[in-house]
Amino acid sequence: MSGAILAIETSCDDSCAAVLAADGTILSNVIASQGIHDKYGGVVPEIAARHHLALLTPTIDAALKEAGLTLAEIERVAVTQGPGLIGALLVGVGQAKAIAAARHIPLVAVDHLQGHVAANFISPEPFEPPFICLIASGGHTLLARVEDHSSYTLLGETLDDAAGEAFDKGARMLGLPFPGGPALQALATEGDEEAFDFPTARNVKGLDFSFAGVKTSLLYAIADLGEAETQLRRADLAASYQRAIVEALVERLTRALDASGLGRVAIGGGVAANGPLRDAVSALGAVSHIPDRLLCTDNAAMIASAARFLPDCSPESALALDAYPSGAMR
Ligand SMILES: Nc1ncnc2c1ncn2[C@@H]1O[C@H](COP(=O)(O)OP(=O)(O)OP(=O)(O)O)[C@@H](O)[C@H]1O
Ligand SMILES: [Mg+2]
Repeated sequence: MSGAILAIETSCDDSCAAVLAADGTILSNVIASQGIHDKYGGVVPEIAARHHLALLTPTIDAALKEAGLTLAEIERVAVTQGPGLIGALLVGVGQAKAIAAARHIPLVAVDHLQGHVAANFISPEPFEPPFICLIASGGHTLLARVEDHSSYTLLGETLDDAAGEAFDKGARMLGLPFPGGPALQALATEGDEEAFDFPTARNVKGLDFSFAGVKTSLLYAIADLGEAETQLRRADLAASYQRAIVEALVERLTRALDASGLGRVAIGGGVAANGPLRDAVSALGAVSHIPDRLLCTDNAAMIASAARFLPDCSPESALALDAYPSGAMR
């Protein structure tokens, strides 16, 4: 198929492959979750890398099959170059290089966070820049001004934990499984979000975030309540904790939006799958774009979407492509 992109994403514990048509329509988006990290309470980097070795080839095969294409019909290969777990990234980068070299097709290196932004460019309802974008995930929380399809300007970011990390750590304190975000959201539906007054780091200046305080407050609240009372109040604790995180995100997002004068807002990253956050962003009174939940958590369709607007690696740099664990591509 003319212009079809195969994308590979292995930055953390999900082995992901997707095929996008040249116009940004998803032909397939396969996610093989490793499902073994919950017993350790978090992702174990070396186990994640080894599982990508086992899972990635069948995941790519499944993505091609679902798209109704063969490898011979793919015209570009995109891969997440970073940030992420280095061993996990290298499995994806190695595989993408091998496919590109064997097929003599271009390789495109994609920054994972640009991928979360580009989830908003996917057809059938692509959201056009300019807009303000909140990216909240397991490893990052940032506000960006998106002026074009291939980059963004950073307006603010977390000074300590990411919002997803706060969800995961809070969930762990409440005895919930990993990843904690979905489990904490589910428990919160049975609780009173006004029961506890957890902080939203209003003292942090500008458009930066901080989630260390809310996490510590939950720890102290649990210690004060004691084991038995904590068990009885788990849903209230979850609901109040979730409210504080969502409020902190929405408060900065609102300020960034007002200051920009753009009146257009989008979200991305795993925490953008959170129901109360999605509801709050929809209610902002701006023109908003909220990607499907599956496109918020890690997936390769968003990597293919970013690649549509990025240049190919030169043949020499493609063979030498390396992964980076943190920071940005440029
Ligand atoms: N419904 C939800 N509510 C709150 N948090 C959620 C929800 N669903 C997923 N998350 C959180 O999203 C995070 C995972 O997001 P994502 O897959 O984008 O992160 P990551 O790739 O590990 O991190 P990064 O994108 O920063 O490298 C986890 O912390 C998870 O708890
Ligand atoms: Mg991610």
